[in-house]
Amino acid sequence: MDNFLYVIMVGLPARGKSTLAWKLYESLKRDGVKVKIFNNGYLRRKLNKENTSYPEFFNPANKQSAALRERYALLNLQRAKKFIQQHFMKNRVAILDATNVSLERRKRIMSFLGYENLLFIECINNDQEIIEENIRLKARIPEFSHLSQEQSIYSLKKRINYYETIYTPLENERNFIKVDTFNYKILNYKVDNGLPFSERIRDFLVTPFINNLYLLRHTQSFFNLEDRLGGDAQLTSKGIQDAHRIAQYFAKKRLPLIFTSTLKRTVQMAKIIQQYQNNCSIISFDDFNEINAGIVEGMSYEEISKKMPEIDQARKHNKYYYVYPNGEGYVSMENRIERGIKKVIYLSKHIDNILIIGHRAVNRMILSYFVYKRQEDIPYIYIPIDGYYHIKINQNKKLFELKKFKF
Ligand code: F6P
Repeated sequence: MDNFLYVIMVGLPARGKSTLAWKLYESLKRDGVKVKIFNNGYLRRKLNKENTSYPEFFNPANKQSAALRERYALLNLQRAKKFIQQHFMKNRVAILDATNVSLERRKRIMSFLGYENLLFIECINNDQEIIEENIRLKARIPEFSHLSQEQSIYSLKKRINYYETIYTPLENERNFIKVDTFNYKILNYKVDNGLPFSERIRDFLVTPFINNLYLLRHTQSFFNLEDRLGGDAQLTSKGIQDAHRIAQYFAKKRLPLIFTSTLKRTVQMAKIIQQYQNNCSIISFDDFNEINAGIVEGMSYEEISKKMPEIDQARKHNKYYYVYPNGEGYVSMENRIERGIKKVIYLSKHIDNILIIGHRAVNRMILSYFVYKRQEDIPYIYIPIDGYYHIKINQNKKLFELKKFKF
């Protein structure tokens, strides 16, 4: 049987289309499929000598630029068709990565490629916080290097507004999947039985992909010295020294992004690691802040057991479900940790190495998101200061390894 498929990405800018296109590319390739991405933006930047990132270029009323964009779209369709024809009788997939939000554009695609071996994938994300963060990251790409950060953000937002005016969601197309790219969740699915690769693709869409995630705990803080809970202490001089050693250890790996909590000790460590990297940004989320110990914040475990033995006892009795008075428990951290992880995955796109610097309870929760653990065991997962967890996940494999720093 001649197995081939055109995948047509659909969605507004910053909704995770290109990340998903890459994810499909890598997964299909791993399955032995011949696969190629045809990206309209890439072609526009390559073939156009002038910088076309300014918003008016994307104004649908601007006839000249609209015609240019259609030309690039057509060129990619021709290239994709050629790719499919060239590899006749092989398992092959051409991924067309562009916004494709207007009905007219999609009609042109269907009339050029036919209706049958065509799958539209609409990427949806309505989470304003994550879209804003993604726009901030996008504003740093070379296309905007001639603009200030604010101008780039304005420009991207204006571009998105223009696309919104011509956006018609998928509805009557023959084969389509709508996916919530932030939650990697399928929202709607209408696909012919037996459409090549569609079952496999469905699996890719709902699987979080992580090439390499390094999960670290911050090095020694002043509170750690006295075994005190929570707080917002700085790193000790030993903590700073160890952070430099860890930074040297990771200097061999390219780290474009480091994620931290908003607490001083993780940010301080990230800044040290950043010194040993080129082009490395730090993104801090309060979703990754350490468990809030409420009325016992700042106390040591010993003090708690002496002054408030009932808290100590109750927590030991059922640590996962115990919630500190005026504070949190592991159980009540679930939602924010999950949200933090999803933000990391969304913003990391397809980069090779992701680094998270967290805290003891936070890192236990992050690990348990990826690796199944009984809830009652989660508060006892070992989270060393002199080691880290390495996590790799794709649809075929889950790797999770505790490594010690050697220095
Ligand atoms: O002691 C360091 C620390 O990160 C505290 O801030 C936090 O309350 C605690 O570890 C979490 O670990 P456990 O749940 O085992 O008390």
